[in-house]
Amino acid sequence: MKPLEKSLNPLSAAAACCCVLLLFVGFAGHAEQGPPERVGHDPIDPPEDWYLDEDGEPLYIPVGFLLTWQQDPTTTMTIDWQTLPDEDRDTVILYREKGAETFLEEEGETIEWPDSERTIHRVELTGLEPATKYEFRFGPDSVRYFFRTMPNSAYEPVRFAAGGDMSPGWRNLLYFANRQVVRYDVEFALIGGDLAYADGDPERLERWYDFFEINRETLVTPTHRVIPIVAAIGNHEVRGGYYHRDDHRRREGIPDYEQTDEIRELIAPYFFALFAFPGQPGYNVLDFGDYMSIILLDTDHANPIYGEQTEWLESVLAERTDIPHVFPIYHVPGYPSHRDFDRETEGRVREHWVPLFEEYGVRIAFENHDHTYKRTYPIRNNEVHPNGVVYVGDGNWGVSGHREVHSVDDTWYLKQASPANHFIIVTLNGPARHLKMVNLYGDVIDEYPKSPSLADGPYVPTPGVGERR
Ligand SMILES: [Fe+2]
Repeated sequence: MKPLEKSLNPLSAAAACCCVLLLFVGFAGHAEQGPPERVGHDPIDPPEDWYLDEDGEPLYIPVGFLLTWQQDPTTTMTIDWQTLPDEDRDTVILYREKGAETFLEEEGETIEWPDSERTIHRVELTGLEPATKYEFRFGPDSVRYFFRTMPNSAYEPVRFAAGGDMSPGWRNLLYFANRQVVRYDVEFALIGGDLAYADGDPERLERWYDFFEINRETLVTPTHRVIPIVAAIGNHEVRGGYYHRDDHRRREGIPDYEQTDEIRELIAPYFFALFAFPGQPGYNVLDFGDYMSIILLDTDHANPIYGEQTEWLESVLAERTDIPHVFPIYHVPGYPSHRDFDRETEGRVREHWVPLFEEYGVRIAFENHDHTYKRTYPIRNNEVHPNGVVYVGDGNWGVSGHREVHSVDDTWYLKQASPANHFIIVTLNGPARHLKMVNLYGDVIDEYPKSPSLADGPYVPTPGVGERR
């Protein structure tokens, strides 16, 4: 196996050094998880000078940035960045195909971040070439990062990381999870809600600032490729957590819930400002060429599960029966591994969405929220069935706290369950797909389907190192 990638990012290096300390401190409060004995295996290099200009002066790096998509990821990219009040900067991105001589300019729009002193700048680049590297800068005095457009077929193969419940509240965990994700050279991170745990609360804005700071230092590869994030909404993006919580103290002064853009923006003010996608009404579908569709759903947070959203879901699924990979992702699990099976939102997922998944041929659904790891058996008609849907996840990317899981032996739908922090490496190869679940130490804790060649021996993780293309 090749050595691990070396960090060239000085901010990453400094942050990660602190992080090693924090990890021990953090774990001290969670003794049941034990010390992270293997943490030292991810080497941190001294800073290089990539962020300096010819005169040795530091180049501009925004306080926060985010890459995501609003349209087909094979030919577009949406770039957001944030500025502070004393920064007078144009909303312009300079970009060029890697190797091209001149930079092109694209102007965008500014977006108000409610309650925050920061301004959001947003530029969408369109008409790009698939499977191509593009350099970009946040103005002429900025450092250069780059991104990759997605390939227009799944035969490269295509790899991304899925999970949920990131939380910058336990900085150490998020740092280490992200750094493990980067080792796999993923195209993007797919997050099923509970991103910063700010609850739409002005007093918790710092959590978003931490979220962007940590991701800036860790969801960037050593060669400065920024990993886009595709994010669904969770309860911690919403004042009161759920659309029907009009009585919640964080909803004071907000009119009673109605299914309108205006009310959704009031109850989830930061999510709708910070994430260009899914945008209003809070659920959406992202089509990657003709090989993958990711459906972001809203489990009762800014929209009820039933009614308009379920009708929309049926039409979206019906139009995509020819797409080989259709992945719904949402926050509250229909098949929980920690919370009770009979809870309200969990039951609505099973009542309204599961029959549609089964009818239209969904094979994998990503669930979150329980802060545990689980994989179900394939399920169809409320029983284990070889042509069923596998529900995987339960959201434990970067949150701490050792939660109990239901007994696999006594829970008919659970094939695997554990309290492990994890993310899921999804690899598509043409019509085939493989899921590898990895913990923050880089250990593979599960895979689906099982690789036949590895069935008799120890599983050796083989993370992608460097840029594959
Ligand atoms: Fe949650």
